[in-house]
Amino acid sequence: MKKILELKNITKTFPGVVALNKVKFDLYEGEVHALLGENGAGKSTLIKIISGVYRPDSGEIFINGRNSFFTSPTEAIKEGVATIHQELNLFEELTVAENIFVGNIEKFVFTKSRMIKITEKLLNELKFPIKADEKVKNLNTSEKQLVSIAKALSLNAKIIIMDEPTATITEHETKRLFEIIKDLKKRNISVIFISHRLEEVFEISDRVTVLRDGMFIGSGKTSEISKEELIKMMVGRKIEEMYPKFNVVSNKEIFRVENLEVGNFVQNVSFNVNKGEIFGIAGLVGSGKLEIALGIYGYLRSKWDKLIIDGQAYMPSKNMLKYGVALVPEDRKKMGLVLDMDIMRNIILQNANEVTKFGKISWKKSKEITNEEVNKYSIKVSSIKQKAKTLSGGNQQKVVLSKVLRKKPKIIFLVEPTRGIDVGAKVEVYNIVNRLANEGVGVVFISSELPEIVSLCDRVLVMHRGRATGILSKEEINQENILKLATGVDI
Ligand SMILES: Nc1ncnc2c1ncn2[C@@H]1O[C@H](COP(=O)(O)OP(=O)(O)OP(=O)(O)O)[C@@H](O)[C@H]1O
Ligand SMILES: [Mg+2]
Repeated sequence: MKKILELKNITKTFPGVVALNKVKFDLYEGEVHALLGENGAGKSTLIKIISGVYRPDSGEIFINGRNSFFTSPTEAIKEGVATIHQELNLFEELTVAENIFVGNIEKFVFTKSRMIKITEKLLNELKFPIKADEKVKNLNTSEKQLVSIAKALSLNAKIIIMDEPTATITEHETKRLFEIIKDLKKRNISVIFISHRLEEVFEISDRVTVLRDGMFIGSGKTSEISKEELIKMMVGRKIEEMYPKFNVVSNKEIFRVENLEVGNFVQNVSFNVNKGEIFGIAGLVGSGKLEIALGIYGYLRSKWDKLIIDGQAYMPSKNMLKYGVALVPEDRKKMGLVLDMDIMRNIILQNANEVTKFGKISWKKSKEITNEEVNKYSIKVSSIKQKAKTLSGGNQQKVVLSKVLRKKPKIIFLVEPTRGIDVGAKVEVYNIVNRLANEGVGVVFISSELPEIVSLCDRVLVMHRGRATGILSKEEINQENILKLATGVDI
């Protein structure tokens, strides 16, 4: 097989952090090469170097055996390298078709209707259920991801780089993506694939390369490496317990909602959560599981017959945080973090009362608090002045968690809290969840990842088309029972 890309001794530093340290990487024609590593290991930085977003400080890149590099993303695309970035670069105000055609020179020869026709054909071929003339701002995260994938596939590239393409799409869509990748392989196209889900890596990749703390740790054929070995390469130690569980459920109720209705998304849902309980909500994308949290928190218009927190009844309000309801949202970039602010400002933004005296902010206190949080959750930062947008995905999630938890909520809704974060950080999140529960908080754990729901939760409510189809007790919780209720069919 022909080597079409090779990187040698690539070093890239950002102020205060060595993101890549003499890293090597190579790619053969027609292979799927998985790039693995914990949050902050340097994966996205490496692919940004390949795709012309960043220039390395030192090192060499060989493209088809020729020593060269791309000076811009546009050049990379022209030379046949298409990239689906982790943070999607779509234009919210433009349509799906326009987004797919942005940067495509030939678009000028098309009329708008022709552009839509071509996009419709592409989306049909890919079996992506999206309308070509829909504005991107009206799509959900999963659909946006599909648009990015479609865009990359439309470029007829020789190399397609996918930075966590499956983080936000459904299992069904992931299957479809894998069929597409297999098809690309047949056409001798190479794929660099990044994912924190090891099952996916084993299913789709031919080879793997592992990075840790910006360093090359090893690479090899996927079929010759075990899952345990991979994890050890990634985290540098063995993980003994993937799903720690040490919470104790008390018999005191901390939260109850009766007959919750959220817009057109959720009807007639009732449940209660006890102190110390980890209460799961499962369901397919679009089932309304996310909207339950958004409705109760006050982001979406909702109503209920009764909502009781720690014995007291409340009416819907836009500021439920005041009453002890906290939410860690799914889209941490949109709702959880101010990306252009530094970590300290992000943390104190929601905890201003702690650092303000007579209307003045104490920066000394702010620094103390931020350092405390950074240590408590082992958030990997070069300094607390680092902008949130330059943190790796998992570390962004920890910042969101820490700023919300500082409020000492009574009930917390965690929406897809481990999405896009690595195995090591996942275990840390599970530990945080257990700890929270043991501090007496009611934890509502909303997730599409069945293994974590099954292992972590004390009870699970399952949603299907906006309605609760059942609440499973600890003994009844297993993947099969959840899927039955989630799909509304017997399997
Ligand atoms: N533009 C930037 N400015 C400063 N630091 C950065 C920037 N981009 C990345 N970093 C830092 O470089 C390191 C590597 O980050 P990178 O995004 O490549 O990690 P990753 O392996 O993709 O992680 P994740 O799995 O969380 O996406 C991190 O410590 C990150 O904070
Ligand atoms: Mg990344």
